[in-house]
Amino acid sequence: MKFELTKVETVDINQPLAEERQGEVLNIPASEIVAPFNGKHYYIESYGCAMNFSDSEIVASILNDNGYRITKDLEKADAIFLNTCSIREKAEDRIRKRLSDFKKLKKNKKAAKIGVLGCMAERLKDKLLVQEKLVDIVCGPDAYRDLPNLLSDADEGQKAVNVLLSREETYAEINPVRLDGNGVTAFISIMRGCDNMCSFCVVPFTRGRERSRSAFSIIAEAKDLVDKGYKEVTLLGQNVDSYKWTNPETKQTVNFANLLEMTAEVNRDMRVRFSTSHPKDMTDEVLYVIARNENVCNYIHLPVQSGNSRVLDLMNRTYDREWYKGRIDAAKRIIPDCSISSDIICGFCSETEEEHQDTLSIMEYAKYSHSYMYFYSERPGTLAARKYEDDIPENVKKRRLSEVIDLQQKHSLENNQKCVGQTYKVLVEKFSKRSDNDLKGRNDHNRSIVFPKGNAKKGDYVNVKITHCTARSLFGNIVE
Ligand code: SAH
Ligand code: SF4
Ligand code: F3S
Repeated sequence: MKFELTKVETVDINQPLAEERQGEVLNIPASEIVAPFNGKHYYIESYGCAMNFSDSEIVASILNDNGYRITKDLEKADAIFLNTCSIREKAEDRIRKRLSDFKKLKKNKKAAKIGVLGCMAERLKDKLLVQEKLVDIVCGPDAYRDLPNLLSDADEGQKAVNVLLSREETYAEINPVRLDGNGVTAFISIMRGCDNMCSFCVVPFTRGRERSRSAFSIIAEAKDLVDKGYKEVTLLGQNVDSYKWTNPETKQTVNFANLLEMTAEVNRDMRVRFSTSHPKDMTDEVLYVIARNENVCNYIHLPVQSGNSRVLDLMNRTYDREWYKGRIDAAKRIIPDCSISSDIICGFCSETEEEHQDTLSIMEYAKYSHSYMYFYSERPGTLAARKYEDDIPENVKKRRLSEVIDLQQKHSLENNQKCVGQTYKVLVEKFSKRSDNDLKGRNDHNRSIVFPKGNAKKGDYVNVKITHCTARSLFGNIVE
């Protein structure tokens, strides 16, 4: 069967553990609504990584508690929010275009306030409001508790901007409202920010310093999800391996390996995933936790970015090619049957053809199940923008990227072909997009599996024997 190539232009977000989601309109299940209605509706669209989608659930919880109601109908909205991403130039372009659509809509409608949340709000601050006059509210990722006040300020015609970054905010006790979820899988944010300063990356500037959320509140959230019938949680952070939290009473420190195991112990029927691991910090201790806990999935998202040591040094990734290969070896040694995925950047400043070949050869070494692949996009203010010239012509960047994509497609297909004839335990998540007679779920390795529904339903575990595949998905039938 023919498989589609990933479109270069549309791979503008990073959602390693979810399907690609861009500009999704979100809705709250009626059962979650508690505070008395204040007469105002809001509409929210989310862009970017899983952290941003998780943040929209915090925003919904805060607005919900202040009497606002969510709507999917733009016409009905008193406030329109975009939760935005700044990771590449294209991600911001898409949001600007969406903002200009909203501006047109606003001309026909009296009082809808337009708000930008998230990373682009943090990066551009009041420029969006003052210079470009595109929006009424600007709210950065650490200021969501202030949103009800910002809405009132905007209603009174005042400047409504809060982009203060915090060293403490983790929204620990806010119970996120699960937006349009499938009721089976959920994200849990375990930390915020990033201290790594990879030279290409805007995240440390938009999300501030790294801080870890209390392990108590994480475990309480996982328990609450189990009580609500959820069967899978994904622990989220930009660099989960540097999770570190000290119990203020016992002074005991919880690291990521400890947290992962504690989460797995909450309920053995609930799967646990996590993202993202940084190759410099991923410990053997974490690998052993994955290996000995059946419900911690045998899957690691371990972005390499480049296969060349000089480029990795320029990127300030603080590991080299040999170190990365060592981490892949450790994962494969400690976790039998471990699946690994990656993020790759093509055409970083001064990358030569030989160095690009090193990226292709490390892909051959790792044989990733899938990758999120991009060409380098210079971000203002980053270390790379200040220190290095963005000197690889766009056509060369794109050609290198298409070589990387082609190789990944080949590996994805080969990996999937090895699954044909095997039987996997699949957690059923939803109906397949193509047919209501088919269900879709994932196995331990995070591979997407489609099969005729039989008597199975959302939230069940079923055994599926694989009959055929594409590079993206496996297909099969339920077996006893
Ligand atoms: N914390 C994660 C990555 C978060 S950003 C990690 O360290 O791996 C998601 C991905 O976007 C990155 O892994 C990188 O591959 C890509 N990315 C980040 N900045 C970029 C830029 N300026 N140009 C192109 N891709 C970029
Ligand atoms: Fe960005 Fe690097 Fe932090 Fe990932 S680890 S968010 S790539 S600075
Ligand atoms: Fe984008 Fe911010 Fe995530 S820049 S990738 S939404 S942390």
